[in-house]
Amino acid sequence: MSATRAIEFDVRDINLAPDGKRRIEWAEREMPVLRLIRERFALEKPLEGVRLVACAHITTETANLARALQAGGAESMLIASNPLSTQDDVAASLVADWGIPIYAIKGETTETYNRHVRTALDFHPEIIIDDGSDVVATLIKERAEQIKEVIGTTEETTTGIVRLQAMSNAGVLTFPAMAVNNAQTKHLFDNRYGTGQSTLDGIIRATNILLAGRTLVVVGYGWCGKGVALRARGMGSNVIVIEIDPIKAVEAVMDGFRVMPIREASLLGDIFVTVTGNRHVIDRQHFANMKDGAIVCNSGHFDLELNLTGLRDMSDEPVTLRPFVQEYKVKANGHRVIVLGEGRLINLAAAEGHPASVMDMSFANQALSVEYLVKRKGNLQPGVHLLPREVDAEIASLKLQALGLTIDTLTPEQIEYMNSWETGT
Ligand SMILES: NC(=O)c1ccc[n+]([C@@H]2O[C@H](COP(=O)([O-])OP(=O)(O)OC[C@H]3O[C@@H](n4cnc5c(N)ncnc54)[C@H](O)[C@@H]3O)[C@@H](O)[C@H]2O)c1
Repeated sequence: MSATRAIEFDVRDINLAPDGKRRIEWAEREMPVLRLIRERFALEKPLEGVRLVACAHITTETANLARALQAGGAESMLIASNPLSTQDDVAASLVADWGIPIYAIKGETTETYNRHVRTALDFHPEIIIDDGSDVVATLIKERAEQIKEVIGTTEETTTGIVRLQAMSNAGVLTFPAMAVNNAQTKHLFDNRYGTGQSTLDGIIRATNILLAGRTLVVVGYGWCGKGVALRARGMGSNVIVIEIDPIKAVEAVMDGFRVMPIREASLLGDIFVTVTGNRHVIDRQHFANMKDGAIVCNSGHFDLELNLTGLRDMSDEPVTLRPFVQEYKVKANGHRVIVLGEGRLINLAAAEGHPASVMDMSFANQALSVEYLVKRKGNLQPGVHLLPREVDAEIASLKLQALGLTIDTLTPEQIEYMNSWETGT
């Protein structure tokens, strides 16, 4: 840990800052909605003096969110939300160029990750931007005396919202939580098109394999799974979908995909991608079934979707073939199973996460949710909240404007018709 410019931080190498700054500014070009928010925040200072912790993937896009929050007057510090997702040059630039304390190193151990979570709590945040709910869970488990200092939290991902809802049901969530993921301008685009594209990008960067003609198994057909399946089909893969929800399974069938249990698909797949938010969806018996050379990765939030402990037990010592590519030889049949990115989010481990253009809308939601919480300090009920629908629509309108597109509006005649019941056949 070091201190320059009177701030504490823990990054790999502060000298990487110039590269990080160039990349942050490159991403900003694709984030016009967040830029408009930043410019307004700079004038209005809605977050003046608010102590804010963001536990996020430290990427160029997150850096632009941090800039917007800083422009709004927040005193922020950032920590990594995943040990493998940090872009070290971005972390360095946020410290050196924007004076924001960052605690994030790509490849940090779980122990360091947890230490950073506790450092974030030592900052005594009033607002917590979380991605997976680790900071909020640690606060509740270990720092009960600090809970009264918290105005609220905003949560970026599906898994975090599932955890917040469980905390709310257990009666331990005593402050408001904004479900950023559940805004339409977040999950319809970020989870689907962002995860769809960047997951394949991660697989390709890690392996340089051709997707065309391969059988690709997508486990989970939620927003992320739809994106992965859609994009993999576009690249020429034969896609099989695995689901436990009958409605999603029918949807996958109607979308033209083969649907079957993982037990059957485990015999057929060349590439497996998990995006369920659930545990051990690829388990020992599935690894045992796989073809020689099958490639397995995860793009769901936590690294427990693949039972890697089980795979380790069944195999010889894994061999690293390339960065983010480890080969396990299954003792029972000699088949090689290739695991990418240690089972962590492959799009952030081996690629750069979602493109800036899609994070523009996700982080517009984050910035506006923080403002919403601060403006309503003390007036919101504990529990999980959604941003008002008008805010969602406003973000979409700004995005259309940035894309140079206009759409129609209802004519007075149409408004009258939509509000009447007399006219029928
Ligand atoms: N990689 C990224 O950058 C990124 C981005 C957004 C979300 N996420 C994460 O990805 C995960 C999925 O998010 P989502 O928004 O698609 O969630 P979602 O709830 O829309 O979809 C998850 C799907 O998985 C299915 N599922 C659950 N258990 C299953 C099992 N055992 N077998 C097969 N299917 C199963 C569910 O029925 C559901 O349809 C979450 O952990 C989320 O936090 C990752």
